[in-house]
Amino acid sequence: MKVCYTKRDLMTEVNRLRREKGETIGFVPTMGALHKGHLSLIERAHYENHAAVVSIFVNPIQFNNPDDLKTYPRTLEADLKLLEPFDIDLVFAPSAEEMYPPGEPIEHYDFGALERVMEGKNRPGHFNGVGVVVGRLLHMVNPTRAYFGEKDYQQIAIVQELVRQLKLPVKIVPCPIVREDDGLALSSRNLLLTPEQRAIAPAIHRILLASADLCKAAHRDDAVAPAKHMVEQAVADVPGMTLEYFEIVDGRTLQPIETWYDAPEQVGCIVVRLGDVRLIDNIRYGKF
Ligand code: PAJ
Repeated sequence: MKVCYTKRDLMTEVNRLRREKGETIGFVPTMGALHKGHLSLIERAHYENHAAVVSIFVNPIQFNNPDDLKTYPRTLEADLKLLEPFDIDLVFAPSAEEMYPPGEPIEHYDFGALERVMEGKNRPGHFNGVGVVVGRLLHMVNPTRAYFGEKDYQQIAIVQELVRQLKLPVKIVPCPIVREDDGLALSSRNLLLTPEQRAIAPAIHRILLASADLCKAAHRDDAVAPAKHMVEQAVADVPGMTLEYFEIVDGRTLQPIETWYDAPEQVGCIVVRLGDVRLIDNIRYGKF
């Protein structure tokens, strides 16, 4: 496993991989503090391609909250150790100056309605930051396939739109959410939870599953509002947990729907806070 810290090295090594290993390259962009969720993407990239490349970069421009950026876990050494047995070909771990050379302008993207809801609405600038870093990384690695987790459901739609706008010849591969045994979606931010917060965090998935029961019992033209209210109430009933948002949206357009029949596939997207820690999760209903 080779570790590159500069763009130049990365591009040289990617060319070498193409010559020596074969045509197809699978790429997994991450911000590190790697866990089994990331590893599921990495294993798949490895399995489906001649060579696998992973990036580890805490992208400052996608953090709209300076404290969140400051406390985000950085564990590069442990991450590299964790990757060792996976037989990854290349890890790219650039500095902020390498990704954003001082004086170089930052691109501006317009993702339309996709970025005006949920994460886009609640974290101004977040998706532009994601678009900029993913766009730059995709240009550098030029992978055949890039792997993204469905935990960040809206991020996948944004990246697909980015790839369309940039006309990049890469296939975006969505991968299922990996959870702890108690249902909590794996996240680098779970490391920041106190033991007490960690103990109540699985309520998020339990509440989403309960909302799926309401969906199953609904008729096609029933409003989604009762499921929304149930989730809002259930989160309010968990001491120490506050709801930032819960939306039931069309799985393709990400726009909120009124009745279960308004979209062929519906997704419930949630963000809660436990103290200062922000946790994201979602559930696919997909009934009609
Ligand atoms: P990060 O939060 O490190 O996540 C990297 C990738 O791992 C993302 O595609 C994310 O959806 C996926 N992932 C995280 N937890 C997961 C889980 N429990 N199950 C399945 N997949 C999971 O997302 C980012 O970094 C950044 O925004 C990035 C795309 C790297 C751009 O900076």
